[in-house]
Amino acid sequence: MRSLIDILDLSVEEINDLCVVASDIIAEPAKYAHKCDGRILATLFFEPSTRTRLSFESAMLSLGGKVLGFSDANSSSTAKGESVSDTIEVVSGYCDIIAMRHPKEGAPLVATRRSLVPLINAGDGGHNHPTQTLTDLLTIYHKKGHFNDLTIGLCGDLKFGRTVHSLINAMSRYTGIKFVLISPEELKLPQYVKDEAIISKGIDFVETTDLEAAMPELDILYMTRIQKERFFHEEEYLRLKDSYILTPEKLETAKQDLCILHPLPRVNEISVAVDNDPRACYFEQARYGRFIRMALILKLLGIDADAADSTEASEPDLSDVLTDTFFCKNPRCITSVEQELPHLFKLADKEHHIYRCIYCESEAEKQ
Ligand code: CP
Repeated sequence: MRSLIDILDLSVEEINDLCVVASDIIAEPAKYAHKCDGRILATLFFEPSTRTRLSFESAMLSLGGKVLGFSDANSSSTAKGESVSDTIEVVSGYCDIIAMRHPKEGAPLVATRRSLVPLINAGDGGHNHPTQTLTDLLTIYHKKGHFNDLTIGLCGDLKFGRTVHSLINAMSRYTGIKFVLISPEELKLPQYVKDEAIISKGIDFVETTDLEAAMPELDILYMTRIQKERFFHEEEYLRLKDSYILTPEKLETAKQDLCILHPLPRVNEISVAVDNDPRACYFEQARYGRFIRMALILKLLGIDADAADSTEASEPDLSDVLTDTFFCKNPRCITSVEQELPHLFKLADKEHHIYRCIYCESEAEKQ
């Protein structure tokens, strides 16, 4: 059984195969209309969503399957205090595959340990969002035709923007990549993402606060929303929320074949005047989400012979895990609300003796 928690659970070859299958689905949807007859997808969304939940549901319905689930944790027994683990063990008896979104980082990883069926991380707090990345990659595949030799500007909330973390992890496996990290000082990319996905691989990158100065060299501009829901203090959000607003004027120095992406929802970081620019790809990007999720569902259910694989489930490697010496101080981690979970840490940096929480990847503190 195979789950998808982190984009790195998929190899580069598998991502390529998914893009090929998704493109075939776009070209010949009728071929796929009954691939999931009799199968059920559960969409468990403990946090709001439009695109991810509905594109997952559209994907399963387009494959001939059925869907069940909830879009609001308050309409589930979570409101009565049920844990993620118990919810998943029960619901996985009612379906064949689960897509789950949760506000706490690491919750989908916790869920895989009790799920009886494949489970897909549909976004966990400010941590990861692998299926958004698959959507981004399918868009790049169609717009650019390749994943190598690209200068990628990521702009906005790089701290809490989970789509940014997953996309950087994915793109760091290709050659000739340069990242231009554009954010306010307060919302810079977390150090662990920078260390593990960029610096340790010798990838070219710059950090800047200046979008306009960066514009001329970009092949892809990935705009992001300031993630209001991740701030503990509203005044800090209000101070930062309009840090970047992309306008037609700011695009005057951009390449003619720039690809402007945004995971959406947009608040006001891209002016609506940009929408008619042929370089604006974000609504098309959202449409691709349905087709790549169809390809992913087929793969995880092992339905297509071509897409079947023998890789084991993405269980955490517990061989170098410590339990009692450290604790996780991240208030956004699933362990901050589910006290009975075992606190587990993996060695991230042997030289500096740095351990990270296996659920949210925050640096561990000594007890
Ligand atoms: N991109 C994305 O995850 O959108 P939703 O929050 O609407 O699902």
